[in-house]
Amino acid sequence: MGKTVGIFDSGLGGLTAAGEFEKLFPGKRYIYFGDTARVPYGTKSAETIRRYALQDSAFLCAHGASVVIAACGTVSANAIDALKASCPVPVIGVVEPAAEKAASVAASGRGRVVLLGTAATVKSGAYERAIAAIDPRIAVKSVACPMFVPLVENGYTSGYAAEFFANEYLGLLKSFGADAVILGCTHYPHLSGVIGSFFEGSVLVDSGREAAAAAARLISPEEAEDGEAEFYVSDSPESFKRLASVFLKRDAFEGVKCIDIEGY
Ligand code: DGL
Repeated sequence: MGKTVGIFDSGLGGLTAAGEFEKLFPGKRYIYFGDTARVPYGTKSAETIRRYALQDSAFLCAHGASVVIAACGTVSANAIDALKASCPVPVIGVVEPAAEKAASVAASGRGRVVLLGTAATVKSGAYERAIAAIDPRIAVKSVACPMFVPLVENGYTSGYAAEFFANEYLGLLKSFGADAVILGCTHYPHLSGVIGSFFEGSVLVDSGREAAAAAARLISPEEAEDGEAEFYVSDSPESFKRLASVFLKRDAFEGVKCIDIEGY
């Protein structure tokens, strides 16, 4: 039997990693869990985030995951050590792969990186540490964008509301001259049109995509199990089905199942 990748997030954000996985591993099975009953994670304490993350990964492992992608910046920034210690299979977070990509872009530019993330991600300092470990000369400016997750979870990825909050968070960052802008919350690439308009000439680093690429360095497409994607959520699947088909640009979400994550 081949290897199956498990991907989890608080909701729809991890679909940015899932979309990249589908490109890199066409026709391969993966399991996705979106913790829609408890989203957002980014406003919770580090202790609560760790508890949720351990349950999410336990669910994926119980369903046959042989590699887990924590496709959530908040979890990766606050709980990656606990996850790695408790999981019987390899765990990939988004922070290291995204930090590596941003640092390599900044190294050939002015050495400036902007990190956009949830409040819990910014508070953790995980991205600053990861980038400093690669190159301490790189300047990192971090900004929490708490309204971005609810905008995405409700399908407001463009238009007035998205532009209003983007201007609130990003308006003053234009003059920083970032070489790379890390979309450090996996929900944010769904807003990349609006975010990108504030950072002309900067490279937007999609942390979910970088994590999926890191998984592809760990297992080859030949090792991966053939089959369909399976989607699970912890609350009613209806809005997940609707927005997942918009974000993944296909219509195969009839089988989304609701599970009780508190039992893991
Ligand atoms: N998409 C997640 C992240 O990368 C979670 C955001 C949230 O639930 O607040 O941070």
